[in-house]
This record gives sequence, C-alpha cells and structure tokens, in this order.
Amino acid sequence: MFKGVLFDLDGVITDTADYHYKAWKSLAEELDIEIDREFNEQLKGVSREDSLDLILKHGKKRNTVDDDEFRKLAEKKNDVYIKMIQSFSEEDIFPGILSLLKELKQHHIKIALASASKNGPLLLEKMNLTHYFDAIVDPSSVALGKPAPDIFIAAADAIDCPISSCIGIEDSQAGITAIKKSSALPIGVGRSNDLGTDISLVSNTNDLTYDFLTSTWENNKK
Ligand code: G6P
Ligand code: MG
Repeated sequence: MFKGVLFDLDGVITDTADYHYKAWKSLAEELDIEIDREFNEQLKGVSREDSLDLILKHGKKRNTVDDDEFRKLAEKKNDVYIKMIQSFSEEDIFPGILSLLKELKQHHIKIALASASKNGPLLLEKMNLTHYFDAIVDPSSVALGKPAPDIFIAAADAIDCPISSCIGIEDSQAGITAIKKSSALPIGVGRSNDLGTDISLVSNTNDLTYDFLTSTWENNKK
C-alpha cells in the first residue's frame, strides 16, 4: 500500500491555477504578447522565472529584456497575483480535498506539499490547511523545477517515505512528467487531452477519495 501522498497545490488543492493564468495574461498584454489557455498549459507547474521566460520567448521578446527588467516583471506578476489571493479562506479549498486530507490522516498516510509556488505556505495558512501537512518543500531548495523530478523526490524524503511508495497528485503536464520521472505513482486532475491517456485521471477533485487512491494503487501495482 502507498505510504505517502505528494500534493501539488495550484489547480489541485485550490483554484489558483486560474489566478496565475489571469496575472500572467495581464502582464503579457502590457508587453504586447498574446497568450491563451492552450499556451497556459505549458506554464502550469512551472516556476515564476521559467514561466516568464516561456512567455517572453513566445512573444519573441526574450532578447529585449535584461536581467533587471526580467526581475521587475516577475515581481510585478507576483504583486498582481498576491492581491488576487488576499481573500482566500477555507471556502476556496476544492471540493473533496479536505475530506481526502482527513481520510489520509486517519489511515496514517504521510502528506507533503510539492508545489513550485513560493506562495504555497501562505495559501495553506489562509485555507487553514497547514497542520495536515507533514512536510512542505521549499521550491527554492531544489536544483531543478518541474518537469524535473527533484521536488517530488525531496517531498518523499521529507516525509521519510520511499518515493516508489508515494502517490503524486498534479494538474499540470510538467508536474505529471516530474512524478513519472520520480517513480511515484501519478494521479492527474484534468483532461486526457492535456495530461495524457496513460495515467489515472479525475475531472473533479471530489473524486479524489481514499478509496479511489487505494484502487488506483492496487491496479497499478498488480
Ligand atoms: C505553481 C503554478 C505555476 C506558478 C508556480 C510558481 O507551479 O502552477 O503557475 O508559476 O507555481 O508560483 P509562484 O507563486 O512562486 O510565482
Ligand atoms: Mg498545479
């Protein structure tokens, strides 16, 4: 049986994936760069700096932005995003997530946060979820961001579970790739068009129950 669950945050625990998109879109508009939801699939799970890099390259403007300007743009996006999440509370937790966390606790399964967001701890606090987590990985402590497996490996280490005894839950292409490379078992939140047909998927977080995780685990370990 699995011993740990490694959670992504944005788009899995709460709807912040959409706020990241809106904040990037408003910054991109100021730079005269057009981004849409399809392009945004590439940004999900990707660090702030790597996301800005992808947007500037998409608009063929990477060479026009020096290091200082780059830092200011990343800060500007974060300021917009921080304003958007100020009013976050328990009401913003996605359906089914709180009961999953409670079920995992009852079954003595370890819980870790493996989010690329530096705002992860703040959001968990606002949603009153911090105490459910046995470990929260600081994304700046790992060498490579998603799609590299580093953050999932660090999360499994932090809860003292072999990575091959863990489930990783993700809504992003980069995150699913990272989980696969880490050798944890991936469960995707989203559509097969975006996340692939070779992993277990839920379209709604309400379906993320302890029973669903258990049967996914058993089906994959046969
Ligand atoms: C998550 C989100 C990304 C975001 C990244 C960094 O992985 O899915 O959209 O860019 O975190 O977030 P931050 O809050 O540190 O800018
Ligand atoms: Mg995500």
